[in-house]
Amino acid sequence: MLLHIPSVLNREEVNHLRKTLAGTEWVDGNVTSGAQAALAKKNLQVPEDAPEAKALGEIILRALGSNAMFNAAALPHRVFPPLFNRYNEGMGFDSHVDNAIRYIGSARQRIRTDLSSTLFLTDPEDYDGGELAIEDHYGEQRVKLPAGDMVLYPADSLHRVEPITRGSRWASFFWTQSMVRDDSNRALLYRFDQSITLARQELGDKHPSVLGLTSTFHNLLRKWADL
Ligand code: NI
Repeated sequence: MLLHIPSVLNREEVNHLRKTLAGTEWVDGNVTSGAQAALAKKNLQVPEDAPEAKALGEIILRALGSNAMFNAAALPHRVFPPLFNRYNEGMGFDSHVDNAIRYIGSARQRIRTDLSSTLFLTDPEDYDGGELAIEDHYGEQRVKLPAGDMVLYPADSLHRVEPITRGSRWASFFWTQSMVRDDSNRALLYRFDQSITLARQELGDKHPSVLGLTSTFHNLLRKWADL
């Protein structure tokens, strides 16, 4: 399931992130790539252990913690500390699949990357090109969102970033290990959760059908969750 999550960060937060990133050291993006991806990748990144990356990453993690849509759709178990990249004119990233396993140095922990996220930090009118093209079951989706918005998609999808022809595209990107590994099970739980929300609005929390649906949701989650 590919999902557009609007306004993960508000305008003030986006401006703060951009201002801090503008004064930060950027290095060749191939520091986080596998050998094969390195051939296809041309961008700049803030080093993973840079204090700015850690501080800004915390702002994003905090925002995600209270984002109902992200929590319902990702059912997150572990989130990789957010990283930051930029594509200047002429830069891009050819088709690839992200690494299945990532090591979180600060937590000495491995994470299975079930979901990929890109949180846009540049508004679409400020650059040309730079679409994130993602292959999903229904064909190719081309994503270019307002600053502060995020796309969440299965990490086993082939994806690429189209070359930039004007301006510079800044973003944060990271991975999530979900409590529910299987994408179709997770998508089912997300739709179920949305239906329960609607039913609660229409019928109230104490209606027997709402109680029944909520119980079944939790029992399904219990059946499918790995921690
Ligand atoms: Ni990627």
